[in-house]
Amino acid sequence: MEQKLEKIKKEALESIHSAESLDSLEEIRVRVLGRKGELTGILRTLGELPAEQRNAVGKKSNEIKKVIEEALDAKISGLQQASFSGLATSEWIDVTLDPALSFREKKPGHLHPISRTQYEIEDILTSMGFQILDGPEAETEYYNFEALNIPKFHPARDMQDTFWTEDGNLLRTHTSAIQIRGMEKMTPPFRIMAPGRVFRYEATDASHEHTFYQVEGMMVDKDISVAHLIYVMEEVLSGVFKSKVKVRLRPGYFPFVEPGFELDFSCLICGGSGCRVCKQSGWIEFLGCGLVHPNVLRAGGIDPEKWSGFAFGMGLNRLIMMQAGINDIRHFMSGDIRFVQQF
Ligand code: DAH
Repeated sequence: MEQKLEKIKKEALESIHSAESLDSLEEIRVRVLGRKGELTGILRTLGELPAEQRNAVGKKSNEIKKVIEEALDAKISGLQQASFSGLATSEWIDVTLDPALSFREKKPGHLHPISRTQYEIEDILTSMGFQILDGPEAETEYYNFEALNIPKFHPARDMQDTFWTEDGNLLRTHTSAIQIRGMEKMTPPFRIMAPGRVFRYEATDASHEHTFYQVEGMMVDKDISVAHLIYVMEEVLSGVFKSKVKVRLRPGYFPFVEPGFELDFSCLICGGSGCRVCKQSGWIEFLGCGLVHPNVLRAGGIDPEKWSGFAFGMGLNRLIMMQAGINDIRHFMSGDIRFVQQF
């Protein structure tokens, strides 16, 4: 019996010594000292032993139990200590780091000024019953020119220098191309708007960019007049500038409208009395518009005898430049985060 006890003690101490986790120590405790453990088994059978052996075996068993328990406790606190000091290297926080300067600082993003103004105009126009349409940036000659009453060799093609693709298509030079696509889809009466990116084969400078943004608008109904056009334009501008804006029309030539106009709005910087921004005129040149040419309606499958319409196309970049006092259109496409962060 003594030998058996010694064996239990020896094996238990060895496995405690080589244990590497708290879980394996618990296993050892259960195996030796648990309810059905090796040592517990011996203590249970003490009563069956002859009286002279009983005392000695009992004493020895209790000694061994104590030794094993102490070894377990020592090993457990050793392992815990090691895991705490491991934490200090694996999960440290640098309390000297300034959160305001660190890359961890979370900056919520915001919309690019072009998107923001585009969405604003979309809200204003949709509230007046305009539907938003989209169209391809790579277009055919037909949608960009021909259907808009600009046939091949028409001098008006030179008004918009064009990026041509090798297969005879082009990058749309204006969102007016979407008017035709819209008319093909819709049945009058309707109101549509089409925001989008447009491209011109141009030398860039402070006021010219090869890529910029426009919003196109078109309303087709019975007996549409210039008065409808003026009302919608005043609503859009007053909505964008959040104050009453006056507009005026000057004759302008665009092959897809007749009559065609250049629309100016009253300068908001000086209130119309003349300043540097409006070149002392009190007015800012803003967009092209007019009453839709019968040829254009016909190209869109609409009978010009029955229906009439107005259309307009505005440049978003120019509008924002005026609003925010930006003096170089190239900032928009520069990708310079410092520009965008100012908005
Ligand atoms: N597409 C013209 C441009 O890019 C702008 C324009 C003028 C659009 C008159 C129109 C319009 O719809 O009626 O310069």
